[in-house]
Amino acid sequence: METLFIGQNQYFLQQVDSTNTYATTLLRNVNAPEGTIIFTDHQTHGRGQRGNSWNTDIASNITVSIILNPAFLPLQKTFYISKITALAIHDVLTDNLPGSQFDIKIKWPNDMLVNRQKIAGILIENQLNGTLLGHSVVGIGLNVNQVNFGDLDGIATSMKKISAQAFDRNIILERLCQALEKWYLRLKQGRYEEITEVYFASLYGHRQSLAFEDKAGQAFMAVLRHVREDGLLELALPDGSVRHYDLKEVKLMM
Ligand code: BTN
Repeated sequence: METLFIGQNQYFLQQVDSTNTYATTLLRNVNAPEGTIIFTDHQTHGRGQRGNSWNTDIASNITVSIILNPAFLPLQKTFYISKITALAIHDVLTDNLPGSQFDIKIKWPNDMLVNRQKIAGILIENQLNGTLLGHSVVGIGLNVNQVNFGDLDGIATSMKKISAQAFDRNIILERLCQALEKWYLRLKQGRYEEITEVYFASLYGHRQSLAFEDKAGQAFMAVLRHVREDGLLELALPDGSVRHYDLKEVKLMM
């Protein structure tokens, strides 16, 4: 793999419960170098956000966890790991799905959309080391060649489904590692403004009025004003009030 460190150390597992869980256990037992990736063809207990599961066809998609050591990052900037991961996936999708018919967007907090359908999900699990960030396990599920999504047809999509073209998963994985490495090195250099600028340019619904649902299941409309540096979503409500929500408190409806 042509990278400096991401993907230089690889674990390929034919089957595993969850690559994120595997990475977390690995970190307890061995000294895995930064950039180690855990990649599998079959996750039996893939985990998503909000306690959801993540199920995909065997050997069709990218199911990977990447170990990072962002001890340089101030704790209040932890959400930047989400931002750069989304930007890396955005880059890979933009390169492989060229043309104006593909509207590639980041959906707060960490879904990737193409033409308003979900193509990838991100699950980041951080460990603290005293007051610093220790290890970060960046889990990515990117739908590449799966074409049937069962109940989620129309809600979920893949690179193949949207473009009618199959992709080589190894090449996509390498591109993903390269893109994440590029953004991670920018983050390490403290290029926060640049990252934030590109993030907002790629954010679904920025400054638009959208439908949300609160944790009681109540639907409401609000303008997506901002995503704060700490990752909270800032919404302007029709009554003029401004509210902040974390990912467990609100869902952006499509
Ligand atoms: C979501 O959209 O809710 C996040 C999905 C994250 C799925 C990936 S697949 C690789 C890694 N291992 C897991 O168990 N989950 C993440």
